Amino acid sequence: MNNHDIPMDNQWLPFTPNRTFRQDPRVFVGAEGMHFTTHDGKKIIDGISSLWCVGAGHNRKPINEAIKNQLDTLDYATAFQASNDKAFKAAQMIADMAPGDLNKVLFCNSGSEAADTALKVALAYHRARGEGHRNVFIGREKGYHGVNFGGMSVGGLPANRKVYGAQLLPRVDHMRFIHDPVNHAYIHHEEPVWAEDPLLELENRILVLHDPSNIAAVIVEPIAGSAGWYIPPQGYVKRLREICDKHGILLIFDEVITGFGRLGVNFGADYYGVVPDMLNFAKAVTNGVIPLGGVICRDFIYDAMMNANSPAHAIEFFHGYTYSGHPVACAAAIATLDLMKEENLFARAGQQGKVLGDAMHSAMKGLPNVIGIRTLGLAGAVELASIPGTPGKRAYDVFMDCFHHGVWVRPAGENIVICPPYIVEDAHIDQIVQTVADSIRRHA
Ligand SMILES: Cc1ncc(COP(=O)(O)O)c(C=O)c1O
Repeated sequence: MNNHDIPMDNQWLPFTPNRTFRQDPRVFVGAEGMHFTTHDGKKIIDGISSLWCVGAGHNRKPINEAIKNQLDTLDYATAFQASNDKAFKAAQMIADMAPGDLNKVLFCNSGSEAADTALKVALAYHRARGEGHRNVFIGREKGYHGVNFGGMSVGGLPANRKVYGAQLLPRVDHMRFIHDPVNHAYIHHEEPVWAEDPLLELENRILVLHDPSNIAAVIVEPIAGSAGWYIPPQGYVKRLREICDKHGILLIFDEVITGFGRLGVNFGADYYGVVPDMLNFAKAVTNGVIPLGGVICRDFIYDAMMNANSPAHAIEFFHGYTYSGHPVACAAAIATLDLMKEENLFARAGQQGKVLGDAMHSAMKGLPNVIGIRTLGLAGAVELASIPGTPGKRAYDVFMDCFHHGVWVRPAGENIVICPPYIVEDAHIDQIVQTVADSIRRHA
């Protein structure tokens, strides 16, 4: 297929420079295992699991078969005042995998919807217990919780927020970011030990400013993914839990990226040994094949909402999506989670993560313009010095150059992020890492 065989006039591409796209298009027409095929017949290795989704690799037959069977059995059924067998089963599997009493799953279709759903649950929960004044949300600088108004407001990526300024949610504050570029630019499968405690700012300034009794929830990604794989210092996640407990504040983990195996275990919550009050998921739960997201809530949240004083026929939570618990998406989730278990893919992600970490640090440290490398789980970021006046340009150029050399990575600010499918082999890691390293040299 040539460029002119594809009608490119009408699709407005998300998070993509549209003006230049057609000069050098990236159009995928097939995928198998670790690789895409482009419209002009090139084979490209998927170094980012197609945005952290495709843990089990592309075109997995058990997932495809489950979807086909579901289409022939129950294609779709209304989600309100009824449900379907696959939604109940998927919810049970997900709750079984989640730590502690994270047992109640509210389905939606994406990570952005999960963020807004969790924030709404937080407000509704506090109101149900007579604490409706708790309506302040705390996010973190450089956090990413999708693109809807709630998630964007608690998120902290300046470019995503700046246009929407005054219309973002009121009564939101942000904790400081968790990166120390001077002492901990290089993190190799470890939790850095900071000399100072970044959460003192939360305790001593933010909570005091708003008064803890007014705060509904704190939302964080256990590891900041979209910003470029930034790893919190040792003890941070546990201490955040303690602070929230002390003040009756709900703790929400956005595990859209860290959930379902990326860190070698079920969730970031397991990795850090901390149970949040809500846990958001999406992406890898269906291997990315069909949109599905959700929020897993602890029992006490659900119980409080059920026990609020309303008649038995009344809806307890006025929220939901037409496609909440879509049977085809839930069938895909069931097959994906079965497959991940059968092939022990989470443990494999943990093992291959070490291979990736070793490869990135040994191939990239000391290269021109490399100012940091952070690896943990099956993911890593290499941070490049910004070109003065054109932020993000160097990473974008490296990303495009890697594509021309058969490797798909992700530019995130000044970082290049690598997060391959869990099925990745050592030779794939070598190819991806060497290609990025060569490209960094070419762009010195
Ligand atoms: C932590 C986190 N939350 C939310 C989202 C948004 O998910 P979606 O693009 O499915 O709306 C993302 C997407 O990358 C994410 O990384």
